[in-house]
Amino acid sequence: MYARMICMIYLLVLWVSLSKQEPRNIQLKPPNLSGQYRINVSPFEEIANNVQIEARANTGYPCNGTFTKTNGTTCGLKEIMLGRCYEYQYIKRGLYLSNTTDIKNCTELYDLFESEVRYKPYCNMNMSTYSKYFEKALAGVHVINRAIFWSGTYAIAHTYSGHGSNYITLEDTLAANMLDGLMWCGKENDTEGFDYVSCPNNCKDNRWADLAFWGLASRTFAERVSGEIYVVLNGSRTDGRPTYRNGSYFAEFELPYFKRNGSFRVTKINALVLHTPDLPVTEKCGEKSLVFLEKLIRDAQFEYNCVDDPDELIMLMCADSWGARECQVARNSLRQLWDIKLYGTSNAIIHSLSFVVLFCIGVFRQIV
Ligand SMILES: *[C@@H]1O[C@H](CO)[C@@H](O)[C@H](O)[C@H]1NC(C)=O
Ligand SMILES: *[C@@H]1O[C@H](CO)[C@@H](O)[C@H](O)[C@H]1NC(C)=O
Ligand SMILES: *[C@@H]1O[C@H](CO)[C@@H](O)[C@H](O)[C@H]1NC(C)=O
Ligand SMILES: *[C@@H]1O[C@H](CO)[C@@H](O)[C@H](O)[C@H]1NC(C)=O
Ligand SMILES: *[C@@H]1O[C@H](CO)[C@@H](O)[C@H](O)[C@H]1NC(C)=O
Ligand SMILES: *[C@@H]1O[C@H](CO)[C@@H](O)[C@H](O)[C@H]1NC(C)=O
Ligand SMILES: *[C@@H]1O[C@H](CO)[C@@H](O)[C@H](O)[C@H]1NC(C)=O
Ligand SMILES: *[C@@H]1O[C@H](CO)[C@@H](O)[C@H](O)[C@H]1NC(C)=O
Ligand SMILES: *[C@@H]1O[C@H](CO)[C@@H](O)[C@H](O)[C@H]1NC(C)=O
Ligand SMILES: *[C@@H]1O[C@H](CO)[C@@H](O)[C@H](O)[C@H]1NC(C)=O
Repeated sequence: MYARMICMIYLLVLWVSLSKQEPRNIQLKPPNLSGQYRINVSPFEEIANNVQIEARANTGYPCNGTFTKTNGTTCGLKEIMLGRCYEYQYIKRGLYLSNTTDIKNCTELYDLFESEVRYKPYCNMNMSTYSKYFEKALAGVHVINRAIFWSGTYAIAHTYSGHGSNYITLEDTLAANMLDGLMWCGKENDTEGFDYVSCPNNCKDNRWADLAFWGLASRTFAERVSGEIYVVLNGSRTDGRPTYRNGSYFAEFELPYFKRNGSFRVTKINALVLHTPDLPVTEKCGEKSLVFLEKLIRDAQFEYNCVDDPDELIMLMCADSWGARECQVARNSLRQLWDIKLYGTSNAIIHSLSFVVLFCIGVFRQIV
């Protein structure tokens, strides 16, 4: 009888203390990284539903007056590029660039870029179109032990790189940063010299045109990395593609161009294979296409190491999808640890909960 009363009192106390926990129920929205993809991420494959772009020649210049989103050149291309160039060199420098890096001439870089595209038909471009631009923009750059490549993992690889403060992806270099996420195409016999209405992005007779910029960007970056490098791969693709894929940017423009000799050579390639929470695992280290990748890398005389889901990347994936089943336990234990950090004792409630529940089960069992 006493036991039953004690049990009731415990439950009452527990209920009162749990109901004081209100503020904990504030829920923030997790970040949505799913939209972060670069335009043109898939070289060397037929675009399934070949998009026909209409020649809407006389729709004018859609960048002033009422802005209309089009599939053409990004409005303000020049200003964005110049702005990013200055920002990269004078502001971001403080974060991670050495404080003595030579300043590149932004106007000169923009002019080099513009001279290759403005007034030029998009589908005539090829892999040497932007070579002067990349030579200048990447001159003197050597990324030692900090380069990260990605394939099917754009968002998380960039979060992990910390935009250059932890590791350096292609998009964290000046050359690529100036154009990341932008679109452009030249137009002959036009006052602006750029087509602001629609860009082909799919040249039937010259697939190299579509690869002219990002293909060469990838290749030039790959030629400038050294030491230990990392490649973040997707081991839970839902689009039926393998984790390492022939025809990906990594396969075509990066892996073949890593330096094998000289003082700035690549020594070791670390594959980091990620398995997204709540998605099925399609490949792990040592399986399927990763066997092929290992052979390619070892044949090229690089050391190879493969790791499934490093802890810090699991944390990032869970931060991005914290409602996922696999993330719940970690989330609860982190909450408890943080409560101890903040309040010293807070997870005593959880302990007393299990104690009271066990105790009360015992009490009521005895009665029955
Ligand atoms: C995340 O963003 C993508 C594209 O930006 C959108 O389609 C999707 O609905 C968003 N998801 C959520 C949960 O808001
Ligand atoms: C739009 O901007 C362009 C370039 O800055 C300029 O040449 C043109 O006159 C402007 N058009 C209108 C309608 O303001
Ligand atoms: C841009 O292209 C996409 C297909 O790639 C199409 O669905 C969309 O309607 C186009 N937008 C404009 C404004 O033309
Ligand atoms: C530049 O960096 C060097 C070492 O990295 C440091 O000794 C020097 O004080 C820095 N100079 C300035 C102006 O921050
Ligand atoms: C930068 O390049 C532009 C164009 O090539 C040139 O006119 C300008 O003088 C250069 N600026 C400096 C500081 O070198
Ligand atoms: C690329 O195009 C330029 C002219 O647009 C041409 O001179 C050059 O030979 C071409 N290069 C290759 C590799 O096709
Ligand atoms: C541009 O003008 C030239 C000379 O007037 C002409 O030969 C060419 O076909 C024109 N190009 C386009 C795409 O209209
Ligand atoms: C892996 O690819 C699938 C789509 O195929 C995507 O939903 C998932 O977010 C990707 N995983 C990572 C870690 O980027
Ligand atoms: C990739 O291409 C090579 C030839 O370049 C071929 O031997 C290999 O089987 C292909 N791998 C896959 C997974 O398709
Ligand atoms: C590295 O090898 C390439 C091709 O085998 C050769 O052209 C280059 O001179 C070599 N570089 C050094 C620094 O040995």
